Amino acid sequence: MQIGRNDLCWCGSGKKYKSCHLAFDSKIEVFRDQGHLVPPHRIIKTKEQIDGIRESGKRNIAILDYVASKIKAGVTTQEIDDWVAEKTKELGAIPAPLNYEGFPKSVCTSVNDQVCHGIPSDKDVLKEGDIVNVDCSTIYNGFISDSSRMFMIGDVDPVTKKLVEDAHKAIDIGLEQVKPWKFLGDMGSAINEFCKSQGYSVVEEIGGHGCGLEFHEEPWVSYVSKPNTEMLMVPGMCFTIEPMINLGKRHIYEDADNGWTIYTEDGKPSAQWEVQVVVTDNGYEILAY
Ligand code: MF3
Ligand code: CO
Repeated sequence: MQIGRNDLCWCGSGKKYKSCHLAFDSKIEVFRDQGHLVPPHRIIKTKEQIDGIRESGKRNIAILDYVASKIKAGVTTQEIDDWVAEKTKELGAIPAPLNYEGFPKSVCTSVNDQVCHGIPSDKDVLKEGDIVNVDCSTIYNGFISDSSRMFMIGDVDPVTKKLVEDAHKAIDIGLEQVKPWKFLGDMGSAINEFCKSQGYSVVEEIGGHGCGLEFHEEPWVSYVSKPNTEMLMVPGMCFTIEPMINLGKRHIYEDADNGWTIYTEDGKPSAQWEVQVVVTDNGYEILAY
């Protein structure tokens, strides 16, 4: 149904369409006519929704800070899960992974050659030289935040340490490209080019995602994309940047026993940081990291 100039805007601002999102929609139409993939209204967040996601993100960040303050050699990944469950509850929030499509724990802990979706276990003890991704997703007041960090346990060999640091740098390189009226492919290709320049490979099969009202929303976010392709970025879009970067080859496989955990095929380490952003009028705001 066509929305009239004098009707209320679809965004819920209470303003007339003509003095709210009409110009915005017309601008999107130009890109659509050029054949670009453009965001549907349903993934463009209102100010109130962004406020809610930001509050969720604050708790997500606090949970990861808590993990950061305690993680060390000798700790099991189950203990990390316990910390996340306990802190999340204390903050009045809910861990999004628990029971998500049958996921059995409150957080993902992916060690060394585990690329993502590692399942916490009291059998997995972190030891000196390990690298581990802790991927935390939080529901607060119905709003969802999602971010992850890498932790290095004690002394890590220099090549693996550089992988972890470069994976962090890749996030900054991606963030630089997040601007309204540019494309997700501008961001993804910047990350891929940087990773290739350092001799790494980027996982292709698993990407980032829209996030905020649901755990995984549109758009799908690739980090091996090309400039000027993929979805147009517009203010109010929320998504994650979370490239999985392999020291060796990009190929991966899924653990056949648990149906979740992804490993590098060559057994070499993989690193991933994840940031959740909202596109603003002139760039981005970080909601969780
Ligand atoms: N946090 C992961 C992501 O970034 C999702 C994990 S799904 C889970 O998309 F069920 F394993 F938690
Ligand atoms: Co995510």
